[in-house]
Amino acid sequence: MTHDNAVAVTVHPAWLPDAALAPLRELPSAVLGSGPCLDTARAELGASPSASTADAALVVAAVSDVGSPASVGLTQLPEVPAGGHAIVRTADRTVVLGADGPAALRGLYAVVREVAVARLSGVAPGPGTVLSAPEQPLRMLDHWDNVAVHPVMGQVERGYSGGSIFYADGEVRADLTRVRDYARLLAATGVEAVGINNVNVHAREARLLTDGLGDVARIADVFRGYGIRIFLSVSFASPRLLGGLDSADPLDPDVAAWWASAADRVYAAVPDFGGFLVKADSEGQPGPFAYGRSHADGANMLAAALRPHGGTVLWRAFVYNHRQDWRDRRTDRARAAYDHFAPLDGTFDDNVVLQVKHGPMDFQVREPLSPVLAAMPRTRLALELQVTQEYTGQQRHVCYLAPAWREYLGFRLDGARSVASIVAGAGGGGAPAGGVAAVSNVGDDEFWTGHPLAQANLYAFGRLAWDSTLTAEDVLDEWIALTFAGAAGPDLARVRPALHEVMDGSCQRYEGYTAPLGVGFMVTPGTHGGPSVDGYEYSPWGTYHFADRDGIGVDRSSATGTGFAGQFPSPWRETYESVETCPDELLLFFHHVPYSHVLGSGKTVVQHIYDSRADAVEGLGGVEAAWESLADLVGSAVPVAFDARVRERLDGQRASAVEWRDQVRSYFWRKSGVKDASGRVVY
Ligand code: GCU
Repeated sequence: MTHDNAVAVTVHPAWLPDAALAPLRELPSAVLGSGPCLDTARAELGASPSASTADAALVVAAVSDVGSPASVGLTQLPEVPAGGHAIVRTADRTVVLGADGPAALRGLYAVVREVAVARLSGVAPGPGTVLSAPEQPLRMLDHWDNVAVHPVMGQVERGYSGGSIFYADGEVRADLTRVRDYARLLAATGVEAVGINNVNVHAREARLLTDGLGDVARIADVFRGYGIRIFLSVSFASPRLLGGLDSADPLDPDVAAWWASAADRVYAAVPDFGGFLVKADSEGQPGPFAYGRSHADGANMLAAALRPHGGTVLWRAFVYNHRQDWRDRRTDRARAAYDHFAPLDGTFDDNVVLQVKHGPMDFQVREPLSPVLAAMPRTRLALELQVTQEYTGQQRHVCYLAPAWREYLGFRLDGARSVASIVAGAGGGGAPAGGVAAVSNVGDDEFWTGHPLAQANLYAFGRLAWDSTLTAEDVLDEWIALTFAGAAGPDLARVRPALHEVMDGSCQRYEGYTAPLGVGFMVTPGTHGGPSVDGYEYSPWGTYHFADRDGIGVDRSSATGTGFAGQFPSPWRETYESVETCPDELLLFFHHVPYSHVLGSGKTVVQHIYDSRADAVEGLGGVEAAWESLADLVGSAVPVAFDARVRERLDGQRASAVEWRDQVRSYFWRKSGVKDASGRVVY
């Protein structure tokens, strides 16, 4: 039985309001060829199938459908880059040529974006040809959505935007309209793959692979029209759970045969299926360790099942001991992924991509990059990010993540190759490309993302996966230009600086009032929202700060600590090894120092903790004032409900930030007995 569960709310159009499409819809246009994405392009423009290109001011086509340059009104055809598009502007027309149908559709959305940005900047694109190719072949969003509501984690694990757009009442929704709207939004950012279920695969969700395939196919049909492939998270124990076998040993031929026939059935239902996403031997999920096998054995067995169909295994590197004894200071969770996976470099099949979280711990607002990314030159790697703001404010705080993501992607881990080039396979290591994946922040909320401004994170993820050299400010401009495309020119000119004021430095501000100097966590156990300085200090999760009366931080040096710093290539291993050269913002990640330790800024550690928490909360005043400055535009440029939600979130953010500030400041005063030299109140 399927349920409808359509909720009678007006869903916010996010970055594709009608006003953004209107300038193109007014033009005589033609879309050549057919196929799911070209048909979508045609529907977007309202172009009739037979429209002639002769009088069209806008032409959209896949390059393979273009017979001669003259047939699209050009004198010569550009070299369309693989997976990308060309936009050719002449005096009287704009021609969008995609490498294929999906690329043509993305090219059309690129024109929508350019038109909106031109309105914001006042600079119209002139005649000429713009070529655009995706930097990352894999540009994927992972949904941690459960089909059945999980007793602890709910419908969407780490979801802060209501229920799932895919599932309700233990079933795949009958009405997939929201999924279609979502696919459209993603196509406009360049995203090309979606994982539709939680990496923690519970009993109901495991069955998507078998008796749920009809529903999976319905979801795939929707995404196909937007050039997006779907992946399933699968349980490594599926042969036992679903197949009645007594083992899931990857080297057991019966197990391999079960997976091969499972894959055959999936591809019979979904011919363009992407593949499997696997969380194995991680936080209680089953995996090859139970059989004494390696993760390469496990991943390669699944890869063999998918290979005849062209599918890919996305195998997660998030493997660590989550039942650690807090008394044991030698076990270091930060080391775990490298220790497990680096020795396996070169042993994964070529349709396996190892998906690595950006940091060695768990999506904290500040961590070093994972050294695994530099340690596996013969393995396809994907960087995993978190758009859902589990540890970055849970969509109650404004936290525009693009500056951080850009920093990760541009980081030169071995001093030479950027992370973006490593995962794109262009870094000279020899491994073919992986890409970028991120946990989605979307739910069935009226604004998609709970906090309306968190839409910008979803938008920015797709754009930076396409091109990591875009600046966070330019991406925000794009998002503003599109989202507020309906605003009158002078109003738009006011919305822009106000939103930059609210969002540009928001991630740093969040970092400012939460856990200090890279030490991480200090969050409420379980929910991970709100402060609890010692919440995880005596837990089995391996996330400690070791604060005592004299100092704080984790010694991860090679000389005296866990040796994690030694997992980095030069120059970072030396940089992080020494208290003198370790960047301030990561000091407590790598070192245990006395409170009196003087930072590069000239302040002691404890005074920095006091000052930065208080300063960050003070900074919220500017944010609130900036939003308030738009009050007279509410009801015109800014929808009433949008404003109401933002205000509600800003109030909540302030209350939470004050709580963070006061708990962290008071904690360190009580621990250290060192007075706050600024004289500000501690409790
Ligand atoms: C975090 C998060 C979990 C999630 C896990 C993962 O630990 O809190 O909810 O399952 O990451 O990435 O697998």
